[in-house]
Amino acid sequence: MKIAVTGKGGVGKSTLTGLLARAFADDGWGVLAIDADPDANLASAIGVPPDRARGLLPISAMSALARERTGAADTGGSHFILNPRVDDLPDRFAITHEGVKLLLMGAVEHAGAGCVCPEHALLRSLLKHILNRRRECVLLDMEAGVEHLGRGTAGDVDLLIVVVEPGARSIETARRIAHLAGQLGLTRIAHVASKVTGAADSAFIAEALGREVIGTLPFDPDIAAADRRGVSAYDLSPACRDLAASLRDAILDLRPDPTKE
Ligand SMILES: Nc1ncnc2c1ncn2[C@@H]1O[C@H](COP(=O)(O)OP(=O)(O)OP(=O)(O)O)[C@@H](O)[C@H]1O
Ligand SMILES: [Mg+2]
Repeated sequence: MKIAVTGKGGVGKSTLTGLLARAFADDGWGVLAIDADPDANLASAIGVPPDRARGLLPISAMSALARERTGAADTGGSHFILNPRVDDLPDRFAITHEGVKLLLMGAVEHAGAGCVCPEHALLRSLLKHILNRRRECVLLDMEAGVEHLGRGTAGDVDLLIVVVEPGARSIETARRIAHLAGQLGLTRIAHVASKVTGAADSAFIAEALGREVIGTLPFDPDIAAADRRGVSAYDLSPACRDLAASLRDAILDLRPDPTKE
């Protein structure tokens, strides 16, 4: 099961990804959580202690590794391969917390569609490898949008979860994301409502989206408090744990073929 989570900035993508990662792990799944946001903060949403999280370096910042793996180190950067070996990297650089493997991938700055540099080649290969060859439940916490998935990898994602909050701007972003995702060949999209304060918020989202969401994360002071304390809402609140379990099950119910990982 390969799931990418996106949505407008600040809607609750990392919160949701962290909760789901823990809920899948508690259900017995192997979980590989990927922080693909340069402004990485998935670690705290999973509950990794701050001291441990501080020592983590994103793969995007490992220039020497990128140059070595792509061969750029041998040619002074004039030539390098676009499909470097990456199969050892997830296990080498991920840390494990409560059954969740966390890998910081980051993103290469200014890496537009046409960007080709050793770091970019390494990240592309790594993402392709993770989406195609890893046997865990992969959860990808992304920046807003799907552009960075790109044509080469979007098709390997089983489900795109777009997080929306009860506001017109987040719905507008969700629409743009759905449009772009369609262009990239990513057709399995589900929405999760976040920061919902009541029935009126739910009704707004359902009407503005024109479809039902697969789950709702209510506005919860415990989630905000967990963030302030640098811990996971999953550890702080039994209600969040229950919610995470039901969101996980709603996602599992969407699988066309439940025998598939
Ligand atoms: N359901 C909720 N109830 C209360 N606060 C929430 C909820 N979901 C998220 N928050 C708070 O909103 C803020 C943003 O959440 P989060 O970091 O998960 O969003 P994000 O979409 O990953 O943001 P970014 O775009 O910066 O990566 C955090 O302070 C978080 O604690
Ligand atoms: Mg985030």
